[in-house]
Amino acid sequence: MKILLIGQGGREHALAWKLKQSPLVTHLFCAPGNAGTALEATNVNISAMDFAGLLKFAKKEQIDLTVVGPEVPLVAGIVDEFIKAGLKVFGPTKKAAELEGSKKFAKELMRKAAVPTADFRVFTNTAEAISYIDEREIERFVVKADGLAAGKGVIVCSSKDETRDAIKRMLINKEFGAAGERIVIEERLEGQEASLLAIVDGHTIIPLEAAQDHKAAFDGDTGPNTGGMGSYCPTPVLTPELIDTAVEKILIPIVHELRKDGRSFRGCLYAGLMLTNNGPKVLEFNVRFGDPETQAVLMRLKSDLAAILMAAAEGKLEAIEALEWDPRPSVCVVMAAEGYPGDYAKDLPIRGLDDAALLPDAKVFHAGTKLVDGQVLTDGGRVLGVTALGDTVSEAKLHAYQAVKCIRWDGAWCRKDISDKAVIS
Ligand code: AMP
Ligand code: GLY
Repeated sequence: MKILLIGQGGREHALAWKLKQSPLVTHLFCAPGNAGTALEATNVNISAMDFAGLLKFAKKEQIDLTVVGPEVPLVAGIVDEFIKAGLKVFGPTKKAAELEGSKKFAKELMRKAAVPTADFRVFTNTAEAISYIDEREIERFVVKADGLAAGKGVIVCSSKDETRDAIKRMLINKEFGAAGERIVIEERLEGQEASLLAIVDGHTIIPLEAAQDHKAAFDGDTGPNTGGMGSYCPTPVLTPELIDTAVEKILIPIVHELRKDGRSFRGCLYAGLMLTNNGPKVLEFNVRFGDPETQAVLMRLKSDLAAILMAAAEGKLEAIEALEWDPRPSVCVVMAAEGYPGDYAKDLPIRGLDDAALLPDAKVFHAGTKLVDGQVLTDGGRVLGVTALGDTVSEAKLHAYQAVKCIRWDGAWCRKDISDKAVIS
């Protein structure tokens, strides 16, 4: 089987690493990839948004399966183009990807399917939005840009003053551009968060082991929100019983509602959950593998990922046997560039990757890196996802930070408390 993987982040390196282990895979390409995917696959210099270029390449190379990593090409309809050309592809169509592309659409669909989620209203008018919050008895709201904003279009507010300010930032100052011209205001939920990813073929749903992400920049969940500073899998807060509840009350109804609406979902469905006193509620849906959850989750997957993704693309997931997992927990620590999540420098040489590669039970997934004349350079804010297994969460954490210690570049930093929540709770 020849596979083309599209994307260039840590998620794609983890997918490439796992796909390459499949005995079914004869050749793996990654477009455009990074210095890490270059270790597992043949990087092809075509952007994830160059649909014509990707299609031409897939036809020329007689690719059997294309796997799309990031949300932006999915929401823009890359899967529809591949299907039209008669090619097999893992990922949702444009209509199904609206579940991530529009928060208004997602919330309204959840309401229709009776999926538990925070109470909400949609606004484009500032005065109406402000009078809505003024009239409510609750004090704490969350204001969300409707469209894609690279995970940054959400403002969690602790008072009505903060909420008014957030509304103005989106609707008047247009801080989030077109994505924030329409906003969703919802009640603020309390509880622990967890990410439940599932492989879906339109009908059959195979949940993966649940993970937890660390979105805040600094230790103790302080500082600005980032794309994710680390993750671990499994998460003790999402017990097997709660996973069953989430499948029954969330995943099944939403997949069914999408199909009824002519938007049959094939791909990775990611439910961001808040575990409230009234059970799990959906914070958001994503229509692709999470980053950095994928690094921690795939580190533990023993089953053949290529067979699973192909079965999903063909609508044959039913035939896949129960997934096999390494019982050991995994921890992924993101190493970031100085200044991230604000402005940061690029092109700094990374040292110590070879030493880290010698450590057993650890794997360094590249996120923002590139290869120039044989030297690995930084090329993004989140640079590496250093991931390790251990007999306990504490041991997995220790192994991950041992690998982190091997790696150096000017200004490199990471959170020191990834996975502590799993041990304390
Ligand atoms: P989202 O991109 O919608 O998942 O939101 C990003 C982050 O904002 C989530 O991971 C939560 O930490 C927080 N968040 C989103 N919606 C809510 C909510 N209704 N209540 C509390 N926190 C929320
Ligand atoms: N880890 C959050 C995301 O992938 O959106």
